[in-house]
Amino acid sequence: MIDRVAIGRRFARLATDVAVRSPLLWRLFRPFVRRQFDALAPVWDSMRMEDTFAPYEAALDALDEAPERVLDVGTGTGAGALTLARRFPAAKIVGVDLAGRMLEQARRNTPPELSRRVSYQQADASALPFPDGSFDLVAHANMIPFFDEVARVVAPGGHALFAFSSGAETPIYVPLARLRPELERRGFTEFAEVDAGRGEALLARKQQTA
Ligand SMILES: C[S@@+](CC[C@H](N)C(=O)[O-])C[C@H]1O[C@@H](n2cnc3c(N)ncnc32)[C@H](O)[C@@H]1O
Repeated sequence: MIDRVAIGRRFARLATDVAVRSPLLWRLFRPFVRRQFDALAPVWDSMRMEDTFAPYEAALDALDEAPERVLDVGTGTGAGALTLARRFPAAKIVGVDLAGRMLEQARRNTPPELSRRVSYQQADASALPFPDGSFDLVAHANMIPFFDEVARVVAPGGHALFAFSSGAETPIYVPLARLRPELERRGFTEFAEVDAGRGEALLARKQQTA
């Protein structure tokens, strides 16, 4: 019997590896990844475990001040965006995702008291529709990193966060040791690595310009 879940997980890892190694090849994977997550949208929230966001939360604990402009990249059904909105009551949060059906569910998941501060946009993380330096924090939970775009939209002195719920078992996973040099090359200078729940995360700070 065909194990569709296992095939989907392997495909997600392949797309991640290719996008990290050769970002220009991402466009070949994009329609398939979008379709994969549109199909998963109705069940995505039921797949979340109690500690899925533990590494994401632990990396947020390492921030020295509350961000005001925050982006959650690959927000899916909005769990990261809503976590951020609850933690940082003065912050405005934007969640972006490729998959329209994920975003429909994210909007349904957003309670009215947060909807003034949390918005969602359909966008590709490899070409974000935001000006340079737009965000104090750009967060990723179980999401393929597009380093040039992260470095572009994080403001000087701001942070980027990358969390993987199940560590190396996460289908979309990039080892922290692989993330760090990519970020260093793009002006990130301070790093905090955390282990929490079954996973791990990296918080990186972009150099403040003189
Ligand atoms: C594994 S899910 C994680 C969702 C959410 N962050 C969470 O942890 O519950 C990955 C999400 O990233 C989205 N995604 C993948 N590649 C993307 C890209 N290039 N731009 C925007 N979203 C993307 C998918 O549509 C999917 O919703």
